Amino acid sequence: MKAILSADLNWGIGCGGQLLQRVPEDMKFFRKMTAGKVVVMGRETFESLPGRQPLKDRINIVLSRSADYDDDRLIICRSLDELFDKLDKHETDDVFVIGGESVYTQLLPYCSEVYITRFEKAFEADRHFPNLDAMENWVLAEESERHFYNDMGFRFLKYINKSVTDHRSTF
Ligand SMILES: NC(=O)c1ccc[n+]([C@@H]2O[C@H](COP(=O)([O-])OP(=O)(O)OC[C@H]3O[C@@H](n4cnc5c(N)ncnc54)[C@H](OP(=O)(O)O)[C@@H]3O)[C@@H](O)[C@H]2O)c1
Repeated sequence: MKAILSADLNWGIGCGGQLLQRVPEDMKFFRKMTAGKVVVMGRETFESLPGRQPLKDRINIVLSRSADYDDDRLIICRSLDELFDKLDKHETDDVFVIGGESVYTQLLPYCSEVYITRFEKAFEADRHFPNLDAMENWVLAEESERHFYNDMGFRFLKYINKSVTDHRSTF
């Protein structure tokens, strides 16, 4: 599986239940990368989506431990074991982890690649992504030229995991 996110200079990813910054070019990249794929997210992230609508043209899987959380438009998983079971029938390259902090943290060891839109600015943040530059098994493999949103620079980065754990071998 892969993860995709936007992060600021301090690896901040969210504040007050929302993204730090909505950047149209980043949203477009996110749509392009995840179209037709399986997206995995935590309940908080699902509830932060515009209009609490599932993402169109994608299989939406939401993690929640709450037994009474239900929604016909989603596949709800109550644990990682249940998630891995559901993912069994999908190509692992077709699965994108889309947040938030708690779900990224739990699923990072199983991710082979992480796509990060890295903002060259420090925002106030209460949710973070692990600092991949400080983790030996993660290497920065690709870096775009600098793009701009208003006066903020940002780049599209791709990190690769040198020692990915196969989720299929964990149960
Ligand atoms: N920058 C980005 O690209 C990006 C992307 C996505 C999200 N975000 C931001 O991240 C923040 C949300 O992150 P968050 O960590 O607070 O919430 P989250 O990870 O989106 O959701 C947390 C919830 O997911 C459920 N959950 C987590 N692990 C589970 C497990 N193993 N089994 C079953 N359920 C599980 C629980 O739901 P229950 O409480 O229902 O049990 C938990 O409370 C927001 O600010 C959002 O905007 C940023």
